[in-house]
Amino acid sequence: MTSIEEQHLRARLGADFFQKRLERQAGKRAKLQHQGEGVFRLERLVPFDALLGGVFGILRIRELLRRRFLDVQVVRQEWRLPSLPAAFEGFRLMQLSDLHCDLDVELTPVVENLVKSTPHDAAVLTGDFRNGMEGDHGPCLRELARICAALAPVRFGILGNHDFLEMVPELEKIGLPVLLNESAVLERDGVRLWFSGIDDPHFYKTHDIAKARAGIPSNECAILLSHSPETFGEAANAGFQLMLSGHTHGGQICLPGGYPIVVPCRVPRKFISGRWEHAGLKGYTSRGTGGCGIAARWNCPPEITLHILRAA
Ligand SMILES: [Fe+2]
Repeated sequence: MTSIEEQHLRARLGADFFQKRLERQAGKRAKLQHQGEGVFRLERLVPFDALLGGVFGILRIRELLRRRFLDVQVVRQEWRLPSLPAAFEGFRLMQLSDLHCDLDVELTPVVENLVKSTPHDAAVLTGDFRNGMEGDHGPCLRELARICAALAPVRFGILGNHDFLEMVPELEKIGLPVLLNESAVLERDGVRLWFSGIDDPHFYKTHDIAKARAGIPSNECAILLSHSPETFGEAANAGFQLMLSGHTHGGQICLPGGYPIVVPCRVPRKFISGRWEHAGLKGYTSRGTGGCGIAARWNCPPEITLHILRAA
């Protein structure tokens, strides 16, 4: 990141949040580097993901779970939004989430082909582009660039808890504008549809919904992109009509019936995956298009979501 890019990011995020994010990123890197310095150093000798992969290998289900991981489904959801202008009736908004592009490069052509064969008017990417949080983000961006090239020209992204702020200039160079507590507007026939995006509210907590919503007239239709569904209460209070999230992966490895074994945030069960409603706010939590840690899924298919917007 050049010093000009750094100044630009500081201005966009605000000096306090910029500082807070860089400090937390440095803390996270340091923690990863020193992981395993405890008495047994077990985490360094046998990383958890490798351990889980070994267990799947012993059970002879590793390849089966990887096939499930690569079996991405296109899921269609219809939304009736009272303030949606008639000019946006039937608008097709594609959502990709939690791609974690550097985990398994075989996922890239799968997503690329599905995106190309699914007509859409715009796309949103709701964070977690990276899997690994150490080292260079180049491999992740190379895969993501291929996916972005297949998407409709109108697209917006937000950062997740796996993504570093330094990625923003490069994401924008590959054609993915990032909303850092900011908003963007689409216009058709003189009427508008707004998109607000916040920085990661889960780990970095550098999200500012009020700032992202500022400047949007209260009677106009606005969609919030929030990496984690944890912000459902704030989003409802801020007057958004629809909120799109990811982060949970729907559990990724689930019991029969899709019951998650581990969920990476504390939210009531209804917010973990799929459609939900809270205090008049409609929302959707994607199960994720990719996955993290290990290229495996069980009872929890990965998805590309096609949201169809309807005027109420
Ligand atoms: Fe994720």
